[in-house]
Amino acid sequence: MIAIRGATTVDGDRPQFIKDVVKELLEEIFKRNGLTEENAVCMLFSNTSDLHSLYPAKAAREAGFFGCPMYSSLEPEMEGALEKCIRVMVLAEGQKPPVHVYLRGAKALRADLSGIYNVAIDGPAGSGKSTISKILGKKLNILCLDTGAMYRACALKCLWSGVPADDETCVSRIIENIDLTVKYENGEQKTMLDGKDVSAEIRRPEISMLASKVSALGCVREKMVGLQRKIAAETSCILDGRDIGTNVLPNAGFKFYLTASPEVRARRRCEENRQKGFDTPYEEILEEIKKRDFQDKTRKIAPLKQADDAILVDSSEMSIDEVVRFMESKIQEKI
Ligand code: DC
Repeated sequence: MIAIRGATTVDGDRPQFIKDVVKELLEEIFKRNGLTEENAVCMLFSNTSDLHSLYPAKAAREAGFFGCPMYSSLEPEMEGALEKCIRVMVLAEGQKPPVHVYLRGAKALRADLSGIYNVAIDGPAGSGKSTISKILGKKLNILCLDTGAMYRACALKCLWSGVPADDETCVSRIIENIDLTVKYENGEQKTMLDGKDVSAEIRRPEISMLASKVSALGCVREKMVGLQRKIAAETSCILDGRDIGTNVLPNAGFKFYLTASPEVRARRRCEENRQKGFDTPYEEILEEIKKRDFQDKTRKIAPLKQADDAILVDSSEMSIDEVVRFMESKIQEKI
C-alpha cells in the first residue's frame, strides 16, 4: 500500500471550480503514479476554511470517481496558510514509491517537498528589498539573506581596524580572515562580526557609504559571494542585494528587480532612520542615495543592474502589501 499526497488551489469558492480542480488533481495523481482508480483504497480530503460551496469528496464523486470510500474535513485556520487550498491523501495498492502531486501553486508552502529554490531580489538602496524579503520569506516559510548586511559588516570591520574602505591592499588583509557569520533567531537575521552581534551597528548612516565603497573591491566581493552561494545551496532562501540575479545566483529560480524613484526611496529611508533614532535631513539622504546609486551602478565588478530574466517591479506607487502579493503570485505560478 502507498500513500500519495496531493494538493491544489481553487480560483474561487464555486462548486464548478472545486469540481474541476479535484478532477484534475485526482487524474494527475493516478496518471503520475501509473495507477487507475481501481487501485485506490480510500481518499482523504481536506480544505481550507475559505471554501464552503462543495465538499471535495462530493466534488470527486460528481467528477466520476466512485471506486473507494472518501472523506472530507476542514483544516484549522493557520496564519500564512495558502488560501483556497484542497489537499488529499490517496491510499492505494501499489509497490512503487509514491509521486506526490502539487498543482496550481500548492507546493509553495512545502519547501521540504519542492526542493531547494532561491529567490533573488536586487535593486537600489531604499527600494524596500529588506522589508519585502522579510515578509515574503515568512509567507513562503524560507530564510532571507540580506547580503547588504554582509558588506556593511565588512565596512564596519574596516572602521574598527582603521583601514580606508577603498584601500584594496589593506582591506584584502583584514577580509581574508574576517570572522563574519549570519545566524537566524526567530527567523530574524543576526549579523555576527568577531563573535559580536552587529545587526544594529551596521545600520548607522555613515556605514552605508563605507559599505558602498568596500563592496566595489574584488577581494571583498569574492569572499562575500562565496559565503552567499554556500548558504543558498544549502537551503531555500531569498537573497536581497545588488548582484544576486546577475552574478551570485545567475540560475536562481525567481528573480526580481525592485526599484522606486530616488525621491520615494529617500522619503522611506528618512522615515526608517527616524524610527531607529537617526534624524538625518531628507535632502541629505536624497543626495546620499543618488551618490550610492551612481557608485553601485558604475563600479567595475558586479555593478547594480537588472538581470535580463528578472521581473521589474517599480514600487514607487505600490504599497508593501501590493509588492509582496505580486511577487508571491509570480512564485506560486511556477512552483
Ligand atoms: O542594501 P544595503 O544598503 O544594506 O547595501 C549596502 C551596500 O552594499 C550597497 O551600497 C551596495 C553593497 N551591496 C553590494 O554591492 N552587493 C550586494 N549584493 C548587496 C549590497
